[in-house]
Amino acid sequence: MLIATFIMSDNTWSGRFAEPVSELVKRYTASVFFDRRMAAQDIRGSLAHAKMLARQGIIGAQDLAAIEGGMAQIAGEIDAGSFEWSLDAEDVHLNIEKRLTALVGDAGKRLHTGRSRNDQVATDIRLWLRDCIDDIDGLLRNLQAALLDVAERHAETPLPGFTHLQVAQPVTFGHHLLAYVEMLARDRSRFADARRRMNRLPLGAAALAGTTFPIDREFVAQELGFDGVCENSLDAVSDRDFAIEFCAAASLVMTHVSRFSEELILWMSPRVGFIDLADRFCTGSSIMPQKKNPDVPELARGKTGRVYGHLMGLLTLMKGQPLAYNKDNQEDKEPLFDTADTLIDTLRIFADMVPGVRVKPENMAAALRQGYATATDLADYLVKRGLPFRDAHEAVARAVRAAEAKNCDLADLPLAELQAFSPLIGKDVFDVLTVAGSLAARDHIGGTAPVQVKAAIARARLRL
Ligand code: ARG
Repeated sequence: MLIATFIMSDNTWSGRFAEPVSELVKRYTASVFFDRRMAAQDIRGSLAHAKMLARQGIIGAQDLAAIEGGMAQIAGEIDAGSFEWSLDAEDVHLNIEKRLTALVGDAGKRLHTGRSRNDQVATDIRLWLRDCIDDIDGLLRNLQAALLDVAERHAETPLPGFTHLQVAQPVTFGHHLLAYVEMLARDRSRFADARRRMNRLPLGAAALAGTTFPIDREFVAQELGFDGVCENSLDAVSDRDFAIEFCAAASLVMTHVSRFSEELILWMSPRVGFIDLADRFCTGSSIMPQKKNPDVPELARGKTGRVYGHLMGLLTLMKGQPLAYNKDNQEDKEPLFDTADTLIDTLRIFADMVPGVRVKPENMAAALRQGYATATDLADYLVKRGLPFRDAHEAVARAVRAAEAKNCDLADLPLAELQAFSPLIGKDVFDVLTVAGSLAARDHIGGTAPVQVKAAIARARLRL
């Protein structure tokens, strides 16, 4: 068990207390099990803070040198896995500070001057999330690139477009995939947006009211790559909007991934048979030897609920908190980390899986022949010959009924029979009743004509 690897001792919290905290409470209140993931960010923040303290003459140059030397050693120990995390020190911040003091003495004790764990933790999470968003942006981009490659190979492959899960009109498979490229583009811009708002420095707010020391917050902000400082000290330590925005953006990505998953599952069902997934993304059944199940998309669909749950958890975490910092805030990290992990794993695996999607154009074409997918094209044809659209709609509806009675497609009805529904129908009607004709006719920006799909792919590649 993880806890067993943590060192326990009987230290009291401070001179303020007459008895040591109970073991149960210690475990209950500690966050080091999970917040040590932010160790690198914590060290970065501390180094910038120490540098500022020295520049301002609040600590000495030799203190700064000692802090820098000690932190380098601590970073090495953490990387090597030899750092001894202790439950007694509660969280990542106190663990590192305690070790620093053990290594460099009084200089370590001076580090916390003009700072509180309240502004420290708020800074660490922002730094951590900022890096995380940069990783996620790269992964979203990779998935877009993978979708674009498949879309390009299938820019002309007809697929039944569905509404109400009924065959509606022909689209190309490439066009369909481009819809997801758009969703992911919005996701990237949402994360970029959230990143911009979160990129402000809380440090300097100290516990809640600011500090009596002559600090230089702008300097620390610059050192840490923030665009500026949080304006209000109370807001700086108590705000977790950025965490909620992150989870909201992640939830929308998962919504998109989940819709795509649902389609993959449906398309792969033998009843539909539009695609196959590579074996390495599927699993078999322990009892039914014939099975090949789309576990990855199913799990992604399932994990979407888990990410939504974290969003709801964080919103609820914040709604009742008076200003400023409350210990409740410590509960922000596990949902955040799990959201990030779930999203990152999902995006990685999808970018890996998409290039291996095997498309079965013959089955897509067969489905198109069954659903009167070009009925709208026939109505448009009649409109272009002068019939008002509502009348055209009615004429074609009757033609579809006739075809249905004969169990054939519109294009299989003889010309004379079609003409019974409208005398405006001529020999050239068969051009619009074909799938290729229907696709090519939707020749405008955003349309499914193969030339438009190819142009859209080229534009999307430029935007990547
Ligand atoms: N571990 C705490 C957290 O994650 C750090 C801040 C604690 N501050 C305090 N006053 N108890 O939020």
